[in-house]
Formats: sequence, structure tokens, C-alpha cells
Amino acid sequence: MKLLFLGDIVGRSGRDAVVALLPGLKRDLALDAIVVNGENAAHGFGITPKLCQEFYAAGVDAITLGNHSWDQKELMAYADSDPRLVRPLNAVRGTPGRGFAILELPRGKKLLAVQVIGRLFMDAADDPFGAIDDLLARYPLKGAVSAILVDVHAEATSEKMGMGHYLDGRVSAVIGTHSHIPTADAQLLPKGTAYQTDAGMCGDYDSVIGMGKETAVYKLSRKLPTDRLAPADGQATVCGVLVEIDNASGLASSIVPLRLGGRLMQAMP
Ligand SMILES: [Fe+2]
Ligand SMILES: [Fe+2]
Repeated sequence: MKLLFLGDIVGRSGRDAVVALLPGLKRDLALDAIVVNGENAAHGFGITPKLCQEFYAAGVDAITLGNHSWDQKELMAYADSDPRLVRPLNAVRGTPGRGFAILELPRGKKLLAVQVIGRLFMDAADDPFGAIDDLLARYPLKGAVSAILVDVHAEATSEKMGMGHYLDGRVSAVIGTHSHIPTADAQLLPKGTAYQTDAGMCGDYDSVIGMGKETAVYKLSRKLPTDRLAPADGQATVCGVLVEIDNASGLASSIVPLRLGGRLMQAMP
């Protein structure tokens, strides 16, 4: 199984690049599944039901969220109706939506796509390690599902690496999101799980993590009130990873970074 995962899509620049590139990538890379992080799709803050549908129409199979899940309040009433939309599994009790999606793929394959959110330098959340243990007891690899992707949405690289090793051998891939910067540590962990600390954002990198640099630098340097942050609108780099998953074991056989368009050094699987 070939799985493409793209990091946080930021604003119109990120959306346009992803929607333009996905059909060609799906064909040329013979992708079986596409999962994207959409928590910053709506002008940097959350995602709307309409944008979810636009991503699905472009070939996306599931959308993960994060700490910005509910920035667009209309998503709260919509989330329960969309089985492909994934908010953090360890969100506090009573949060709308679901923490995982089970995607029925061609040739009888089933992909479990999950998101957990970190607790270091983030808002309070329930225990992500216990939450994923409970889910994996219900849906073990090679039992109910043929592949498992975990989006670990966290600030600290340490917490993301810890989650990678915690899940090594139990899931197909653990890929980080939220920091909006791609890390250069794509690897197969010793027990066969594909791992990268952060996928990087799909957005304009002439920015401060996707947001217009003038306002962002003013806020950082002056610590005074100013305009609300808005996404940078130059050409986006689409960032993510291509993971190949062995059909027999459900573990990964390769992970390769992808960076296409915009300012970053290009990388094409
Ligand atoms: Fe983000
Ligand atoms: Fe985030």
C-alpha cells in the first residue's frame, strides 16, 4: 500500500497547491490513500465543511485536525456527520467528531487513520499514550485493519519521537504535524514503523510558519497588540511523506519525504 500524508495545509496558498498537485501525484505515484492535515486550511485557522469537501473532491481520503480544530465554529455541528474527519483522539470527553477514521480502500484494504495531540507546550489534553493503547486494542494491525497511520500533533520534538518509539512495531507510520517545518529525520524505526518528526506545512515558506512575516515579526519582537495574523500568500511548498506499507505485515518498507513547489529544496519520491 502506498500512502501519502501531507502536513498542515495553511490558507489559500496551501489549499491551491495541494488541490492542483494531488490528482497528478495520485496517478504518478500510484497512491492507494491520501491523508492531509487540514487544521489551518481556512485562512490559517481551522477548516470549514466546504473546504473538507474540496479536499475530498481532489482525492483526499481523510483529513486530520489539531489544536485549531474548532477555530471555525461551524465545524462543531458538522464534525459528527463526516466519518473521514479526524480530531485528536485524546480530546477531552464530549468533544464533537471522532479521533480516528477507518478508510475502506481498493482491493479490500482498510487503513486506520488516527490523530493524537501532545501535552508539552500545548493546551491540556487527556493522555495520548493511553488513548492510542485503547484504540489499538480494538483495532490491532493485521487484525481489523491492514495499515495504521498516526498523526502526532505536538510542539515538542521529544514528545513526537517518544510516541514514535512507543508505537514502533504496532502501527505502520507515526508522522508529526503542528510545527509547520519539515524535519530531516525520515526513517524506519527498528521494529518497522515509518517515522518523521514533522511532515512540514503545505504553505508559503516566505513567512513565519505560514503566517505573514511582517505581522509575525512585529508580534515576536515588540510584544505589542497588532493586526491579526493572516497567511502568507506566495507560492506554497507542498510537504509530506510517501510511506510504502508491506501488505503482509502492515509495517512500513520505506518512507520518503516529499517537498514540491515554492521555496524549499525540492524532494520528489
Ligand atoms: Fe498547524
Ligand atoms: Fe497545530
